[in-house]
Amino acid sequence: MSWTPPPVLVTRRLPQEALDRIAARCDMTLYDGEGAMPRDQLLAQVAGKAGAITLLTDRVDEEFLQAAGPRLKVVANYAVGFDNIDVQACTRHGVLACNTPEVLTETTADTAFALMMAAARRVAEGDRFLRSGAAWIWGPLMMLGQDVHHATVGIVGFGRIGQALARRAHGFSMRVLYHDMYRPPAEVEHELGAEYRDLEDLLRESDFVSLHTSLTPQTRHLINAARLALMKPTAVLVNTSRGPVIDEQALARALQQGQIFAAGLDVFEREPQVHPALLACDNAVLIPHLGSATVTTRLAMADLAAGNLLAALEDRRPPALLNPQAREHGTSGGEAAELPHPRQPS
Ligand code: DGY
Repeated sequence: MSWTPPPVLVTRRLPQEALDRIAARCDMTLYDGEGAMPRDQLLAQVAGKAGAITLLTDRVDEEFLQAAGPRLKVVANYAVGFDNIDVQACTRHGVLACNTPEVLTETTADTAFALMMAAARRVAEGDRFLRSGAAWIWGPLMMLGQDVHHATVGIVGFGRIGQALARRAHGFSMRVLYHDMYRPPAEVEHELGAEYRDLEDLLRESDFVSLHTSLTPQTRHLINAARLALMKPTAVLVNTSRGPVIDEQALARALQQGQIFAAGLDVFEREPQVHPALLACDNAVLIPHLGSATVTTRLAMADLAAGNLLAALEDRRPPALLNPQAREHGTSGGEAAELPHPRQPS
């Protein structure tokens, strides 16, 4: 019998090297539109596919899995975060769900540190000011910010990226506090010089708070009005995780009222929309979800996503598999009892 390449869907243009790798072994359908693939096209195009490379803008849920049909073996997300994927539903359908951990850790930690620096030292505001053409002369009280060096950083979510931020903080002689549902082994705390705090104490004590938690029902609006009120008026809040972890309305109010000094945000509650009240805050540094956006890292993510897809299609274990139990369910779509939800890595 002659070999026919498995049909796969790629929902957005990826670095060419990865597309070539996929196209060499699969019958690839690529959505080449400018934005995210429209839902109706996604559901129509995934029908009958054996695999899909999805983005954080594609919802992989029961409807998607039903639309795909029983041939679907793997969904390889081009992101470390997988709050767009219903992993339990994938498992029930015998579909392997994969993500791209590790390859973006350092780059995303760099972004978080850049936002800390930019927000504390008013970099974007200064740039806007100069471009406005306003008259200025050096002055002792002009655009004063907050020091980063020797300050205390509170890291919420102490997974890979949170820990990478802690390493950077030591280079600036910072004190490192952290909060996470999962305490790392004592050696890790020791190596990173990080002290555990409950969330409220961390917010009270920190000069910088950087969010690295995944988005789950428990972390939605983790940073709300009441928690913002615990922060210092000189504090800076940074988010490179997922937008809905912060109540943006409450944050905009805290920034307007000087309840905190500044914020640096890479992610937003209703991406790609940005809350108009945040756009109006000069003390908010806002960037369009660029956490992992370097040439090298995006290439590494594409390579890992392609590796996940191809491994699953060739009946090998994908390097970054979220639901190993799905392998036991085959691709027949057999119903399983409620399965444990994997921890969303950050
Ligand atoms: C992720 O990988 O989850 C980021 O948000 C995009 O790099």
